[in-house]
Parts: sequence; structure tokens; C-alpha cells
Amino acid sequence: MSHVSKSRSQVTVPDLARFKAQGRRIVMTTAYDAPTAHIADAAGVDSILVGDSLGNVCLGFENTLPVTLEMMLHHVQAVVRARPRALLLADMPYLSYHISVEDTLRNGGALLRVGVQGVKLEGGSVRVPMIQALVGAEIPVMGHLGLTPQSIHIMGGYKVQGKEGQGAITLIEDALRLQDAGCFGLLLEGIPADLAARVTDVLEIPTIGIGAGPDCSGQVLVFHDLLGLLPGDAPKFVRKYLDGYALMVEAMSNWASDIREGDYPGPAESYILPEATRKLLSTWAPPKN
Ligand code: KIV
Repeated sequence: MSHVSKSRSQVTVPDLARFKAQGRRIVMTTAYDAPTAHIADAAGVDSILVGDSLGNVCLGFENTLPVTLEMMLHHVQAVVRARPRALLLADMPYLSYHISVEDTLRNGGALLRVGVQGVKLEGGSVRVPMIQALVGAEIPVMGHLGLTPQSIHIMGGYKVQGKEGQGAITLIEDALRLQDAGCFGLLLEGIPADLAARVTDVLEIPTIGIGAGPDCSGQVLVFHDLLGLLPGDAPKFVRKYLDGYALMVEAMSNWASDIREGDYPGPAESYILPEATRKLLSTWAPPKN
């Protein structure tokens, strides 16, 4: 049996706790295939999540609910082939951890077997038995609280959570239960910044925020949002670091014009016959019928 360890720069699950303890902010983005994983890894992010946002940003679905385990496995394997040094996590898609503990273990194990280092799943204390079983089977789990996209219909849309009534208290109590159940980290999405700060303070495990203000242990943004790859408006919490969509449309339009004007391909983009073959070809004539 081989015990060859990963390269020393590989980020591991325990590293995230160390980063929180050292006050080093954790950087996470999503990736869905080998090129997006290569870009994220070359940028030096600490963690790559193959998110079920796959459904919205790559597969053209309205929300994450149609994403299946098979779709996730297909894209996870493409990301794994990029061999990122970032900690690689994958979302458990809708209905892959809701039916039974056995089903959850089989599905979480399938993701681990193709090469992720941990899984993420959405929801509060109702998920505790599933999380305990996964951790008991050596599958590291990141929890996800607040605006949980798989609950879109229960929430009545993508709405900031934990603002009213007992919501903030429930969220803190759920966070503690997920930590006790064995989660190594917690993603906080779409909650007020001061609530996220309180959760981060109360927990020992690191928090990763998205639309949850600046005081989480780290931040995540969806690859396509931060690089502006999609047309239309982005949510309030997104900062675009590139207008990728406009730049790519412009580049492709330039290519189309070059073709139409006879500028592409030019000599530099063409293969040239050797002199001897060119001479031979010049003496050749089509056979006469
Ligand atoms: O699926 C996803 O991209 C997510 C985001 C919150 C990062 O879970």
C-alpha cells in the first residue's frame, strides 16, 4: 500500500483551522472544469469548491435543484484532473443527503472517491445525523447556513436570512450544533454582517462568507461572478474583478471580423509546404476525362 504524501504545498482540511487561528483570511472560489480549476489554482486560492452553482452558471438551470450527483461527479472529475493544490471540496446536491443516512454516506463517499477532500451540505440541526455519519466515515464536512439555495421554495426566493425574530438566534444555535456534529468549517451565505461576525466569534471552526460581510474567517465568490463571465446584473455582494463577458464578446467579434475581411488566418497562422513539394504540386494537373 502506498503512503506517498501529497506535495507539501497541498492545502488540507486541518489547514483551514490553522489559518483561522493565525488570523489568516481564507480565500475560496468555485470551479467546474479543468480550465477554471487551473485559473483558480494559479491565482493561489486556498480552496476550490465544485459548487452546485454548476446548475446556474454552467448548465443553464434556473436554480441548483436540478443538479444531480452524476452531474457533480462529472464536473468534479474534470476539476480533479487539474490537480489543484487548493483544498478541493464539492457540494452534495439536492436530495443526495436528504433521504437517509445510508444514502448520504454512499453519495458523500462517491464524491470523496473521485478525489475531493471534503463535502459541503446545506441546512441546520436537521442535518446533524447525516453530518455525524459522514464524519464517522472519514468524510470531512463543511456546513452551509443562512441563505441556502436548495431551500429556495421554503425561503420564497433568494432572501437575506437571520434578520427578523428568532432567526438570528436559531442560526447561531444551528452553527454550534453543526460544529458539535463534526463540521470542519461553515459557509455563511446571505446574512447580516454583524450576525456573521458573531457566529465567527462564537465558533472555533472557520467560517467562509458570501454576502455575509467582512468578518468571517474567509470569503468565497462564484468564479463566474468575480470574473464577470455572465451577462446581466450580479447580486449586491459581488465585486467584479473583470468584465469577462464583455471582453470575451469583444474578442470573439474581432475574430469574426478578421475572418470576414480575409485577415484570419494569416501567414503566421498557416502551415507552409516544403519547396520540393510545392514544385511537384505546380507540375500536377487534374486527370483529363
Ligand atoms: O454552489 C456554490 O457555488 C455555493 C456558493 C455559496 C459558493 O455553495
